[in-house]
Amino acid sequence: MSSTPHSTTNSGAPVASDAHSLTVGPDGPIVLHDHYLVEKLAQFNRERVPERVVHAKGGGAFGVLEVTEDVSQFTKAALFQPGARTEALARFSSVAGEQGSPDTWRDPRGFALKFYSTEGNYDLVGNNTPVFFLRDTIKFPDFIRSQKRLPGSNLRDHDMQWDFWTLSPESAHQVTWLMGDRGLPRTWRNMDGFGSHTYQWINAGGERFWVKYHFRTDQGHEFLSQADADRIAGEDADHHIRDLYEAIARGDAPSWTVHVQVMPYADAASYRFNPFDLTKVWPKADYPLIKVGTLRLDRNPENYFAQIEQAAFEPSNFVPGIAASPDKMLLGRIFSYADAHRYRIGTNYAQLPVNAPKNEVNSYAKDGAMRFSYASPERPVYAPNSHGGPAAEPSLVGDAGWESDGEMVRAAATLHAEDDDFGQAGTLVREVLDDAARDRLVANIAGHVGNVTIDELRQRVYAYWRGVDETLGKRVEAAVGR
Ligand code: HEM
Repeated sequence: MSSTPHSTTNSGAPVASDAHSLTVGPDGPIVLHDHYLVEKLAQFNRERVPERVVHAKGGGAFGVLEVTEDVSQFTKAALFQPGARTEALARFSSVAGEQGSPDTWRDPRGFALKFYSTEGNYDLVGNNTPVFFLRDTIKFPDFIRSQKRLPGSNLRDHDMQWDFWTLSPESAHQVTWLMGDRGLPRTWRNMDGFGSHTYQWINAGGERFWVKYHFRTDQGHEFLSQADADRIAGEDADHHIRDLYEAIARGDAPSWTVHVQVMPYADAASYRFNPFDLTKVWPKADYPLIKVGTLRLDRNPENYFAQIEQAAFEPSNFVPGIAASPDKMLLGRIFSYADAHRYRIGTNYAQLPVNAPKNEVNSYAKDGAMRFSYASPERPVYAPNSHGGPAAEPSLVGDAGWESDGEMVRAAATLHAEDDDFGQAGTLVREVLDDAARDRLVANIAGHVGNVTIDELRQRVYAYWRGVDETLGKRVEAAVGR
């Protein structure tokens, strides 16, 4: 007998051969009762789960969030208390491309975090941009379809992309980010992460605040030129996955300094921008960054499928001291992700080791496909009960919420002085970018718009960019003309 372990069937019995099916004579037919062969083929046919409908291509790693500052006056969440160290999982991704697509296609990048806190999992599912293309969930499926593929040819299509964007001018701020340097980070290590939405923090005294998260890269911002990104797409489609994996493997653990912007609860009503509009930032002059700590990623997954492909991030995973805000995008996402996981992974996705919280779970959920954890038989399966089963403790959660009243409507809020579509995008172009970055922005937009085939649509694109900034619009038009 050899010293290597013997191979077994899934039920643990030794297999007779790794190389030969059971046949009637060496050239004869394979017999149906070669159960091991059947098991191998059947298992192989079921190796894939559906890819994520967005953010399908990605990679990730484990690490730790360490809180070095004291922000306890703003939140009672255990993971943000001074000195807290919380295990974390990060998954980075591109948005529109499929699983095999090149990492260096121009796109926002996902920045999804799961914190295994002592009070349950806290997930912060953000991007490398502080804003998004939309301010209402109802447009998300249409937006994504416009970025993906045509139904007939299955090709991606610039006409479709610009048609949607120009008819949805609230996209202008995010499209400006996307067409600029941040649309092509050199590596995932060289980009910032943002919670993007406004969230709610609640302190131990029950006081509420609005917050935005910023994860600033300690590796420095670096980006790729369009030409380099195109070249790398051909040379190494997995450029970003490889970079992160190799950096961690050689002990070069990337880190991000975690900050928040904090808005007093009452400020929201009179702030010049709707603070719950995901197409807007809060300028730092209004609400400066407050340092919280450091996120460091130092452990590669051991199994990509089990730990990254089956990772299920959900904006609905809050913990005491952290809650939602009236942001209509966030409220839609709170439904969407758990629903996606039930479909993509299965009813009991939360039991998988990568998704299971590290603290005790006392949920009344039971049964369902692939259920393997269960409570003791003495524990009642319903609540309320008179048998000492788990009972809700509202004081642990606190008063997370906000006032809301009025007729039911389908309309965007326009109560704030600067609730427009183009203002912040224009400020980004004029006041944040330098001349060289503006030149690259013009070149990137022009390169993209050059693929638009419909003249009327091109005119709409120029008007869109003139809406952002008159000079930018003219420069784009001239550059496309050339
Ligand atoms: C993934 C829906 C907006 C960041 C996903 C997935 C769905 C989804 C269904 C796939 C989940 C899975 O199968 O695991 C939506 C809807 C949105 C929205 C309905 C708008 C209302 C956003 C925004 C951000 C974002 C605004 C960032 C600020 C992400 C990230 C992932 C993701 C990072 C990948 C998570 C991972 O790595 O597994 N989204 N999304 N999404 N979304 Fe969204």
